[in-house]
Amino acid sequence: MFNILTKMDKEYDYKLYLIYEGELNLDSKFSEKNIEFIKKVALKQKFTGKKSEVLKISIDENEKIVTPIFIGFGKKEEFNEDIYREVIFETLSSIKGKVSVESDDKTLLLPEVFGEIVYNINYSLDCFKEKKESEKLSVDFILESENKELEREINLIGATTDIARDLVNLPANIINPTTLSERVVELGKEYGFEVEVLDESELIKLGMNLLVEVGKASETKSKFIVMRYLNSDTDRKIALVGKGLTYDTGGLCIKPDDSMFEMKSDMAGAGTVIATMCAVAKMGLKTNLISLVPACENAVGGNAYRPSDIIKSMSGKTVEIINTDAEGRLALADALTYAVQKEKATEIIDVATLTGAILVALGTFATGVFSNSDKMYEEFEKVSLKSGEKIWRMPLFEQYRSQIVSEIADIKNIGVRMGGVGSSAKFLEEFVEKTPWIHLDIAGTAYDSSIKWLKKGATGVMVKTLYNYVKSKGTL
Ligand code: BES
Ligand code: MG
Ligand code: ZN
Repeated sequence: MFNILTKMDKEYDYKLYLIYEGELNLDSKFSEKNIEFIKKVALKQKFTGKKSEVLKISIDENEKIVTPIFIGFGKKEEFNEDIYREVIFETLSSIKGKVSVESDDKTLLLPEVFGEIVYNINYSLDCFKEKKESEKLSVDFILESENKELEREINLIGATTDIARDLVNLPANIINPTTLSERVVELGKEYGFEVEVLDESELIKLGMNLLVEVGKASETKSKFIVMRYLNSDTDRKIALVGKGLTYDTGGLCIKPDDSMFEMKSDMAGAGTVIATMCAVAKMGLKTNLISLVPACENAVGGNAYRPSDIIKSMSGKTVEIINTDAEGRLALADALTYAVQKEKATEIIDVATLTGAILVALGTFATGVFSNSDKMYEEFEKVSLKSGEKIWRMPLFEQYRSQIVSEIADIKNIGVRMGGVGSSAKFLEEFVEKTPWIHLDIAGTAYDSSIKWLKKGATGVMVKTLYNYVKSKGTL
């Protein structure tokens, strides 16, 4: 779908030329006659290369009709990567077929970013439609030197981000804890990592009662999916933990219908860590990575867990349930304990559609980040800036901890409404012991984001950043 070439192929449906405003340069690209013609058309249409301006002309070059498309990125001094993303998505979304991409200005040749947007444009889940979208956009990106490794990486990140999107967009009558774990087993074979799936009886043996209780009212019981990729001699081991609520009705504290609708996306954290695992393993990075998914469905039923129940977690701490809709932190808590105690992870990143409160705080374009380690946060922030996925650090004040003190158990599962995102993160922190840890709340960014270069539905957020983070921590 995205190739890096040093020379053009023979046939293209369109030839794209990326330009800054006022920098349309046609020399040596076309015959004299056509250069004059293009200049005239540009003048007539007042095309100068302003942001998202497009000039598309069919011309006869050596008895062959070719169609160059000139795409404007606005003023060079105002340019940034988000403008690049926005312009490409906007101008190429309606174009199908095989295209070449060139520019006289190297600063407009950003293969990773271009490739990312090509995947965004081409993504669709059309397995439910009788009429499939057949033709996609295929890009030959012309650079001075070849880079097969980069080309492979761009396509791998694109394809695995699409895996995360598919898992999230598929509804809960298709993706449940059982089918999710079966899919991961398949992916493990395809991408090269080990998969172990623990079922309810094994979870009970391990004492992962929080995960078991959240999923108890569902026809498809909780599973714990363990993915392992060990490819480095160092003692370092990164654990990714993804919230895998295949559906969140809210449980007995049932959600109103309009906020329930989106809850097939409550396993987006799982989608992200599964996809990251696929990319890291297939790329053969020198690292030790495990991904953990507590998979369950928060359903309603006669045996559902209730507000006021007290449950003993895998860590030994008892949890008083105040609200059954604060289920994600419960499932995650046992997974975090597993990462620390069973896998001896040296650092942990969890990814979760955890709270509506993060949506209120940051909107739908930035992921909320919590961390108990400044060093780890700083490293993560650096990588996120390179990946172009916006994050914002949120506080872990001790005051949030005092809000989840229970009168009857060790801890309770919610604090107060105001600033509720703080106590949700503080709850998770209880279970990481002293391990350096990052918590990503993607409730705002995983689904129907307002980002201009994403389609509706699942976004695949954080796959790219997590892949790059794991890569940055690997050994060569
Ligand atoms: N899955 C939701 C959070 C969510 C909200 C994700 C909106 C995506 C979009 C989570 O399980 C939840 O229900 N959280 C409650 C917690 C509350 C009961 C303390 C919330 O945020 O309302
Ligand atoms: Mg909930
Ligand atoms: Zn949830």
